[in-house]
Amino acid sequence: MKPFSELMSLKGRTALVTGGASGIGYAIAQRLAEQGARVCLVDLSDHVTEAANRLPGTGHSGVQANVTDEDAVLRSCNEALEAFGKVDILVNNAGVALIAKAGELTTQAWDTTLSINLRAAFLFSRTLGPQMCKNGFGRIISMASQAAVVALEGHIAYTASKAGILGMTKVLAYEWGPHGVTANAISPTVVETELGKKVWAGPVGDAFKAQIPTGRFAQPDEIACAATYLASEAAAMVNGENFFVDGGYTIR
Ligand SMILES: NC(=O)c1ccc[n+]([C@@H]2O[C@H](COP(=O)([O-])OP(=O)(O)OC[C@H]3O[C@@H](n4cnc5c(N)ncnc54)[C@H](O)[C@@H]3O)[C@@H](O)[C@H]2O)c1
Repeated sequence: MKPFSELMSLKGRTALVTGGASGIGYAIAQRLAEQGARVCLVDLSDHVTEAANRLPGTGHSGVQANVTDEDAVLRSCNEALEAFGKVDILVNNAGVALIAKAGELTTQAWDTTLSINLRAAFLFSRTLGPQMCKNGFGRIISMASQAAVVALEGHIAYTASKAGILGMTKVLAYEWGPHGVTANAISPTVVETELGKKVWAGPVGDAFKAQIPTGRFAQPDEIACAATYLASEAAAMVNGENFFVDGGYTIR
């Protein structure tokens, strides 16, 4: 039996993390890199290369790109494939939360949300999945949310996008599982990042926290540890799953 640390090692693996310059994406990239993977961060931010250079180890890269732009998605994937020769782990993490009640959300906010949170995840998966299947190994990890499975006020577009991630994940898991490629989603409760703080600041957040059995919000690294497990050899039989990291919020 291999030691657990060996099963968790990502030495020789390569990863692409969307929205990887900050928040949960950066935390995931840090853990993947710490386990030995070379990581390509894809992000809108001007600081994406700087963020890649701060990761543990060497050989990382950053690509500045808007994931709503299909050409930019292809360019990002090609840059990662050219730099690494393959991409073993795809983390579909870039996301926005545009909050408004159902009767008030603009069409533009709906389209932007679906384009970043769901369409981009499909574009990256469609581009990188086939080479994973050919290589006989792959991990597709997509950020969903507690909001994928429970109704939260003002989250109409966000919930639709995250529920879409769960559906997409199941089909990818079914189609590509036979080729050594797993697809899983992670559904956190509120995570204390820029996005989380913006939506859940003040009394609304305090009231919400009181409903989480563990009594607090999550930290980015707690999501990163779940993602790193799913990326590892240890999780080879976890496929098509929605992995809650929500302190038990959705158990009721
Ligand atoms: N923070 C939370 O409470 C929470 C809870 C559940 C799920 N999530 C999900 O986790 C993921 C990451 O969230 P976060 O809290 O780290 O967000 P964040 O806002 O802190 O970081 C998001 C990153 O994505 C990048 N990004 C946004 N739009 C982009 C685009 N069009 N193209 C390229 N990059 C883009 C940003 O530049 C930023 O670096 C999202 O999918 C989010 O829906 C977050």
